[in-house]
Amino acid sequence: MPSPSILFVDHSAALGGAELYLLDVAKHFRDRAAVVTFENGPFVDRLQAACIKSQVIAAPASILEVRRDSSFLRLVAAVPALCRFAFQLVSTARDYDILFANSQKSFLVTAIAGVLSRRPVIWNLHDLLTDDHFSAGKRHLVARVANACASRVIVNSEATRKAFASSGGRRSLTRIVYNGIDAADFDVSPHDVQTVRNNFQLQSEPVVGVFSRLASWKGQHVLLDAVAALPEIHVLIVGDALFGGDVKYARTLRQTAEKRGMAHRVHFAGFQQNIAPYLHACDIVIHTSTAPEPFGRVIVEGMLAGKPVIATKAGGAREIITSEQNGLLVAPGDSAALRQAIVSLLSKPDMARALAQRGRQEAASRYSLEKMVEGINHVFQSVAPPVTTA
Ligand code: UDP
Ligand code: GLC
Repeated sequence: MPSPSILFVDHSAALGGAELYLLDVAKHFRDRAAVVTFENGPFVDRLQAACIKSQVIAAPASILEVRRDSSFLRLVAAVPALCRFAFQLVSTARDYDILFANSQKSFLVTAIAGVLSRRPVIWNLHDLLTDDHFSAGKRHLVARVANACASRVIVNSEATRKAFASSGGRRSLTRIVYNGIDAADFDVSPHDVQTVRNNFQLQSEPVVGVFSRLASWKGQHVLLDAVAALPEIHVLIVGDALFGGDVKYARTLRQTAEKRGMAHRVHFAGFQQNIAPYLHACDIVIHTSTAPEPFGRVIVEGMLAGKPVIATKAGGAREIITSEQNGLLVAPGDSAALRQAIVSLLSKPDMARALAQRGRQEAASRYSLEKMVEGINHVFQSVAPPVTTA
């Protein structure tokens, strides 16, 4: 069977984990694929730099302004705009065999475009459809649309699959494809690591780092609480607020560090195009999400950098880390438990080294780019329309 052509669709042009994942996927299929986004931004720049065909079909504000925390009524009110906007996607959609939506908002639009263009639609679900993240109304709406319009739902973890099914989604539609991450990107030169350490004037003191975007559910405040009583520890906070609603949280984090007299040892690095040298500059990599993480690329990236990782015990993180074997898990939001885990890794370097070593091996074999591409190819082959030969 000839290889099908694919139109990837993502509403966002910010560099979130889902977009970084799509960048790697689209790189692999670039000779027969294009990516549509609903806005311009750094993700589009990265697609262009990777020679991936891209197109911005600008969505109206009424669609872009529907956010994760918007009410169900707001989403319902946007439905006519979503339908009108789907018509704009149809002529591009007809040039491809398969439509692949990489976010919830783009899925709703692509589902309609798929019906109009008679193309199979794959939804890559990166979110956990649970109460922590979405209202019941929204969860059930997208799950129903998936049941009616999606040929397959790719999920980024077993946890995401379970939440989709609990929201009314058909489990038989789902296929798990874990994010694949290129281990080679995490081999960095000692010079690059030293540059990071020099930038923040880090000497011999222990450094712990957190690498998620700044957002309240990503829980960076829990790490500040945890190290408040550990005055020798420096904290590297890498990432920035990617979405409008999170700017206030980012400001509060900085104010908290100042108010608690920690500003000299809490370093805000902002968003970095390449976090690898920053990971290497740390003794421990920490994931602090207070709500279940759907997958958690940063956990795998910390492991690939050969660092001991502490993550919160929920969602996809529990599939990546088995506590005390390839990392440590602590209860979400429990700053005392996090403090204890940090102290224990710093006081037992042999144990920390063993966890990191095993973590690195397991991350490299389980979350390879090859496995990811194989999983996606499998899904493409299963939904591709049969080709008729004359
Ligand atoms: N990231 C980045 N620069 C930063 C902070 C994070 O490129 O300054 C990347 C990080 O390497 C990871 C992604 O952002 O690949 C975050 O993905 P994850 O799945 O951990 O969480 P998400 O933000 O998608 O919920
Ligand atoms: C989403 C999730 C994150 C996941 C990423 C890639 O952004 O929040 O947990 O790792 O998608 O699948």
